Amino acid sequence: MKISLDGKRALVTGANSGIGQAIAQGLARAGALVAINYVTRPEAAEQVARGIGAGKALTVEADVTDERQVQAMFGKLDQAWGGLDVLVNCAGIDGKRAFGWEVDCETWRRVIEVNLFGAFNCARQALQRMVQQKSGVVLNVSSVHEVIPWSGYSAYTASKAGLAMLTKTLAQEAAPHGVRVLAIAPGAIRTPINEEVWSDHSMLNDLLAKIPEGRMGSVEDVADVAVLLASDAARYMTGSSVYVDGGMTLFPSFTHGG
Ligand code: BGC
Repeated sequence: MKISLDGKRALVTGANSGIGQAIAQGLARAGALVAINYVTRPEAAEQVARGIGAGKALTVEADVTDERQVQAMFGKLDQAWGGLDVLVNCAGIDGKRAFGWEVDCETWRRVIEVNLFGAFNCARQALQRMVQQKSGVVLNVSSVHEVIPWSGYSAYTASKAGLAMLTKTLAQEAAPHGVRVLAIAPGAIRTPINEEVWSDHSMLNDLLAKIPEGRMGSVEDVADVAVLLASDAARYMTGSSVYVDGGMTLFPSFTHGG
């Protein structure tokens, strides 16, 4: 079986760093045209686009939490490509670590706005087009924290659990129209979001003890699965969350005792 995205038009949000960047590069390697969305650091987005190659990538600025900006971004893609086949919602933040009774409401709300409303805002625009063309895939980048509670990150975990149910509901709505909606749930992937942890010896060891495979994931570990899910190889999959986590969701503390 050959996995190919030849001729597919894809938009990846938050594609100027981390997992989003690797997914954009992976989709392009599989043959897709890719739009690199960003909200900060335009030079990083340009660099990803240049790496993919002229004529195969473009950059699009939009804050995913802003309805007008997102509408304008999709309008640009309509003009450039006449439609969209794959949306990957990857833009995300984790906020500041603080107990629920200490965190300020603005920080809490912002995490939900970017991770959950932002994904919905983009999915809404994408689905309007995909339902009409009777094909397409929306892939939401969730987290193992859609099922694992995480002290200090109540907004993040709530946003990711919400994203899982958003995925299922949109999948149910879109399936009769030939459109698939899936979530990919990474575990501990080495990216800038968790640099504080992997750059500290004892914090890294604590994290590794939570991963049965005994290593942090690479962004390519996630990107390869994203390409598979976006392709026709996954044509009978919709609504589920696919964990790419080296076993983090397998209750590793139960490897012993119990
Ligand atoms: C977070 C990372 C964390 C991982 C495992 C991800 O969703 O973004 O910071 O290392 O979950 O806890």
